Amino acid sequence: MQRLEVYWEDAIRPLHHIYGHLDNFDTWLANTITRIGRAYAQRPTELHQLDEKRLLQPDWFQQSNMLGYVAYTDRFAGNLNGVAEKIPYLNELGVTYLHLMPLLQPRPGANDGGYAVMDYREVDARLGSMNDLANLATRLRHNNISLCIDLVCNHTAKEHQWAQKARAGDPDYQNYYLMFPDRTLPDAYEENLREIFPDFKPGNFTYYEDLDKWVWTTFNEYQWDLNYQNPAIFAEMLGIMLYLANQGVEVLRLDAVAFLWKRMGTNCENQPEAHLILQAFRALCRLAAPALLLKAEAIVSPPDLVPYLGRGVAANKECHIAYHNVLMVMLWSCLAERKAVLATKALQNMPAIPSGTSWVTYVRCHDDIGWAITEEDAAQVGLDGFAHRAFLSDFYTGRFEGTFAAGTTFQFNPRTNDRRVNGSLASLAGLETAVTNTNWSEVELAIRRILLLHNLVFAFGGIPLIYMGDEIGLLNDHSYMEKLELAEDSRWIHRPFMDWEKAAKRHNPDSITGRIYAGLCQLVQVRKRTELLHAETAVHPIWASNDHILALLRDNPRGRLLILANVTEAHQTITRHRLHELGFSGLLINRLTEQPIDMWQDLTLEPYQAVWLQQAS
Ligand code: GLC
Repeated sequence: MQRLEVYWEDAIRPLHHIYGHLDNFDTWLANTITRIGRAYAQRPTELHQLDEKRLLQPDWFQQSNMLGYVAYTDRFAGNLNGVAEKIPYLNELGVTYLHLMPLLQPRPGANDGGYAVMDYREVDARLGSMNDLANLATRLRHNNISLCIDLVCNHTAKEHQWAQKARAGDPDYQNYYLMFPDRTLPDAYEENLREIFPDFKPGNFTYYEDLDKWVWTTFNEYQWDLNYQNPAIFAEMLGIMLYLANQGVEVLRLDAVAFLWKRMGTNCENQPEAHLILQAFRALCRLAAPALLLKAEAIVSPPDLVPYLGRGVAANKECHIAYHNVLMVMLWSCLAERKAVLATKALQNMPAIPSGTSWVTYVRCHDDIGWAITEEDAAQVGLDGFAHRAFLSDFYTGRFEGTFAAGTTFQFNPRTNDRRVNGSLASLAGLETAVTNTNWSEVELAIRRILLLHNLVFAFGGIPLIYMGDEIGLLNDHSYMEKLELAEDSRWIHRPFMDWEKAAKRHNPDSITGRIYAGLCQLVQVRKRTELLHAETAVHPIWASNDHILALLRDNPRGRLLILANVTEAHQTITRHRLHELGFSGLLINRLTEQPIDMWQDLTLEPYQAVWLQQAS
């Protein structure tokens, strides 16, 4: 009751904006509240207790002990019960948050890695049952690991029962999707739309003969975009969110949220209503399941990204966490260019995020890398945006002379010349090429790159993610080409099966695997004890007075930390004078090693070395 009082305004404000003009708004609202009441009543006691705990410690996910791990259930451990058996492995790494890739019932055949869901209340039978999921969530929680799963809220599979009913001619269900009798409106929309998978399916609409209609399909033909102008969709999704929260899911990764609302004359991404929908979801979920965190998956350009964590009146009232795709892109850009200037500028240009939210930082994920670099950011450091993006694509797909990277091109769009990149972290960082050429000094550099990238996502603040297999340096996996339903999507090159034989050698310090694993574990330990990496305050990228060093200053009430990273294979120096200017003088400690730094000399960083400097107290 108290929650209703406190969060009511937050819920009603966005809902009024989006649906207030509809005739039956009041009845719809009353029904929605009843539904929330029911979800609250059905919530298991242990989860009510979790709600209390989270309300008492609302910054739990911002703390420096957070560490995420991302894996496909089948590729990591066979099925959900298998994941439970791997808890000791996750505990050894220090994981506190596990994102299992899409696991709700997908359509048969090609399903975009599970992002084409036909039943949100059933688990993919190959992985287990809903009961197994609930049991796994409990076991993980008892081991201090929060379970995150995907909620594909922008579209359903065309085999979902809503789509089936729509297809059978039911007008109520046709209104769940965006359908057009002819090309007039689709053509008008297309003028401003991007193509997400131009190789798989050009355009954003698909014609179905039996329906004699064009259906909005942003992604693949079999993924039908939902119509959020219809409040029934909002209510259905909210019901699903609370249902999943009641199974013990603690974090929902809201897929493709940038696309939730369409508006003629725009690119139909990042529309104000998409934000209002997320704000309403947040406020209403808080009533029944306040422990639930919402994570935005909006892989958009820097100015469009920050609002998913809430701006203005919505600060702290939209998603709790969001992927920092810009940081990811900038780190890869630094390594290719051997310069940190663009990264420094682009990250400086991003506004601060609300104090109660956090980034999710990562180096690699299951998707391709799209070069989210604006013309403005590039121009400010004297680069041409288009040329730089083309350079990065060339560099990471092996087309650039002397590159260390071994990735592949994804979704070349001849209309825009846009090219995205696939490849595993280790392969993109040079390990594959070095091992193939048995070039040991290159192997050394690749290991350092892998650790440097992780170092920076660990230091940035927020929840750092380790993508399954990166902790043991798994290379590109070409086996997907032998599977008919996967072969055309080269993102599977970086979605390997866990190599448990290799993982068994992780404690051997002389192997490449052991080097990477030990380096990562050391980073995890340091991060966990470095409390000032708490996400509550912004990190400031600053100029180190050396273009080849990325410098991040964390000025937190808990203390000041200066992160310096050499993004090149040469030695790089930052002067004593510059450190002094930044307020670092006297006795300094490198928190990564707990070694003092000699401040009577300039500070020289080894190839790809990072230091986390703090004034000794
Ligand atoms: C997200 C997923 C991606 C998927 C798309 C459509 O971007 O990360 O893998 O293809 O949404 O659901």
